[in-house]
Amino acid sequence: MVRRETWATRVGFILAAIGSAVGLGNIWRFPFQTADNGGAAFLIVYLIAVIAIGLPALLAEFVIGRRANINAIEAFRRINYSRWSFAGAIGVLASFWTLSYYSVVGGWVIRFVYGFASGAVLEMPSSYFTDVAATGVDAVALHAVFMGITILIVALGVEKGIELATKFMVPAIVVLLLGLAAYAFTLPGAAEGYQYYLSPDVGAIVADAPSVIPAAVGQALFSLSVGFSVMITYASYLSGDDNLGTDGLSIAIANTFIGVLAGAVVFPLLFAAGIQPGGDLVGSGGGAGAVFVGVTTALANLAPTAARVVGVIFFGTVLIAALSSSISLLEAVVSYLVDNRGVARAPTAAGLGVVIFLLGIPSAMSLEWLGWFDGIAVSLLLPITVVLVVFFVGWVLGPEAVDEIRRGTRGGGSLPTAWLWWVRTVLLLAIVGVLLLNLNDIFLTPESGYYIVPGPLR
Ligand code: PFF
Repeated sequence: MVRRETWATRVGFILAAIGSAVGLGNIWRFPFQTADNGGAAFLIVYLIAVIAIGLPALLAEFVIGRRANINAIEAFRRINYSRWSFAGAIGVLASFWTLSYYSVVGGWVIRFVYGFASGAVLEMPSSYFTDVAATGVDAVALHAVFMGITILIVALGVEKGIELATKFMVPAIVVLLLGLAAYAFTLPGAAEGYQYYLSPDVGAIVADAPSVIPAAVGQALFSLSVGFSVMITYASYLSGDDNLGTDGLSIAIANTFIGVLAGAVVFPLLFAAGIQPGGDLVGSGGGAGAVFVGVTTALANLAPTAARVVGVIFFGTVLIAALSSSISLLEAVVSYLVDNRGVARAPTAAGLGVVIFLLGIPSAMSLEWLGWFDGIAVSLLLPITVVLVVFFVGWVLGPEAVDEIRRGTRGGGSLPTAWLWWVRTVLLLAIVGVLLLNLNDIFLTPESGYYIVPGPLR
């Protein structure tokens, strides 16, 4: 049997996991979720959700992965709970499903990078997204290109592909975003952006709690890549006795920092150009187009050369972030076939990539379909997986999970036990609550649910 791959270094694992976490979720999904859910109020609920829900759930996935050292479906069998394999399987399905539309958005990003490089975007800043980039044959083609790059990196392997790539990608994202944030700071009118972003209207949280809270929890989990079997898979390549707690904390902090930083680029840019997040942008391709249309319209106000340079840097950064996440989604699925069926990695990555590409075609043809795929992934598959994983780790694995957390620490004091009780009670109840609210939203509130029946294909 071929020896199973591992990360070369601990930092390699942490950077790969940060790379998975930081992605379109931080730069593309987060600003429009914030705009849809009351601005700064959403930011606060999101930050609480990261600490109270996201981080403990991330640790639960790490525990399973490192304990089993095998892909997310087989993992449960390996630690003697084969009846729970379906939980890993739903997560793997979520990865498969999510990558199909994630890659379409990745294709849009590629389009914007060269659109800015050539200057074409600036000729029609407000309509480029809907008229040129979002849907149609070109969108399908660029979805294929994005998928192709993802396949290439995954085909190279855990150490020589994913670890090596993310070692460059993550620092690059930080440096580029810092540069962009500094630039955005200098724009006249930027202050209003910070104000919108950083001064919460607590009344809005209270009034809209039933929709703001699940949206924030969903965003926190999506953004930490929890609920997709991805973090189980990444932790399964750990060979040493890392301290899972501090690793998880570093990943959560880095992801949040980069997410907040992305907001500190996007909102000042929008406000400096007099664009209101939410309202104005909803007409331009829906929430999905918000960042594309907003940032592009904002940049079009600058001198043409500056606009092109900043546009290429901004969307180039988004592209790097998207790729460092898409590889983790593909890896979760590939690792199952490589471990369990003994097939070679490269052809498996390629074959799967093609199937996922085909599944993404509806999303590349219509924004309604893309919204529908996103809704199913984030409102349904994700919370179902997390409920199962959290219940499993809390109540089935129980003390064994605490042992696993203690491994690599000097005992950890009473924190691991406190974590277990948190997972068993608050976390479990919170996630079940979110799932129920989502189900209500999807099945019982037809006017708000585009999930089950997407709009007509455009
Ligand atoms: N966390 C990524 C983002 O915020 O863009 C998206 C993602 C990647 C979600 C991997 C889930 C996952 F398993």
